[in-house]
Amino acid sequence: MLTLTESALTHFPPMGVYETLFKFLDSTGKYMGSEGTHPWAQGFPLTSPLPGGPDIPTRIDFTYKDLKYPQATGEPEFLAAIRDYYNHFYGANIGTENIAVFAGGRPGIYATLAFLKPEFQVLVEETEYTPYWDALKLLGRKHKLIPSNPDNHFRPSIEDYEKAGPGFVLKSNPCNPTGVTWENEQLKALVNLCTRQGWGGLIDEAYEFFHEPEPESALRYIEDINQTNLFVVSAATKGLQAPGLRVGWVIASKANIEIFRNFSSIAMGGVARPSQICTTALLQPDRAAQARKSVGVYYGEQRRRYEKALVGLGFELFTGDGGFYHWGRLPRGLTADQFNERLFRHEAAILPGKLCDMKRGAADSSLHNFMRFSFGPLKADSFEADIEIIRSCVVEDQHDS
Ligand SMILES: Cc1ncc(COP(=O)(O)O)c(C=O)c1O
Repeated sequence: MLTLTESALTHFPPMGVYETLFKFLDSTGKYMGSEGTHPWAQGFPLTSPLPGGPDIPTRIDFTYKDLKYPQATGEPEFLAAIRDYYNHFYGANIGTENIAVFAGGRPGIYATLAFLKPEFQVLVEETEYTPYWDALKLLGRKHKLIPSNPDNHFRPSIEDYEKAGPGFVLKSNPCNPTGVTWENEQLKALVNLCTRQGWGGLIDEAYEFFHEPEPESALRYIEDINQTNLFVVSAATKGLQAPGLRVGWVIASKANIEIFRNFSSIAMGGVARPSQICTTALLQPDRAAQARKSVGVYYGEQRRRYEKALVGLGFELFTGDGGFYHWGRLPRGLTADQFNERLFRHEAAILPGKLCDMKRGAADSSLHNFMRFSFGPLKADSFEADIEIIRSCVVEDQHDS
């Protein structure tokens, strides 16, 4: 058998979330997310209909024609549905030539960073979406950290960015893991900053629907995207509740979209037509309006009830008003790894906060007693049992772990 040292490929470990999944498998013999497990480390939404939400399709109609190669940046009907969505809900001013379709959000993010000119220094917050760290490392991208830690309550300001720049902002909004969301004037100021000479930015809106009181998008504030180096990324993964379709998109200037078209022709070959057909239907205006509302209401309620219970158990939460995670410090000086060892016995796990630390690597992370608790995959009726498991793992004597 071929061993790793004999491999022709450069070794690279999986991104952080998978590290936790493998530890979980070793300890419990089960895949996190399978029946009976409590997948609080994972970032997927419910894929079944929500109360008051639209139906979720369980079949896709297509013809022989749809077995042909797809177009490089996306099928015309799908591009039109994405264009209409942003123009309708945010008064954006984009055309189909401003959109490129990818097989999920991450490939769009990765492609943008891969083609970013070396003179653009990436500006990334200290506490961010795990694979940003892997992508920056793998691509050897120079980057500067914007403070996002307990001292500023994980709420950096526009001044922090101004001080660090010029550069290329890489930011999830709502933020994974903190849920902190820039909206209104603050988001407008960020958009304006990113349109200045020497600046640019990727605003990752994977959790757009999961913000209260309303979904928010940078596209509301971009006057003419063709004059910018802004990239707004989203996907069918979270708000449309369809991670398995593997569909994502990037909205950018026409000139930047052309680069993605060329990339697709060389390295991707487009995105599966049946997935695009399905997502086109998910984005129809009436359905999308209903989905935006029901996702906001359901996950808003879940955010509040888990917040109350976790605070009652001694967690110090810093969660904002978006996303489907709680972000906070564990009680009683527990580290996230110790907490997970206890949770594994109940077939449960959280994501250790250090995996969201963009400055990790050399020394131990300062986020070792932080956790990201995901309520994305949870049905409303698991609440009491979930809190009981957490309570029993918090109060367990330190020497047991
Ligand atoms: C911040 C953020 N961006 C993008 C994504 C997109 O993921 P995918 O590649 O599964 O569409 C995710 C999923 O976890 C995310 O959390």
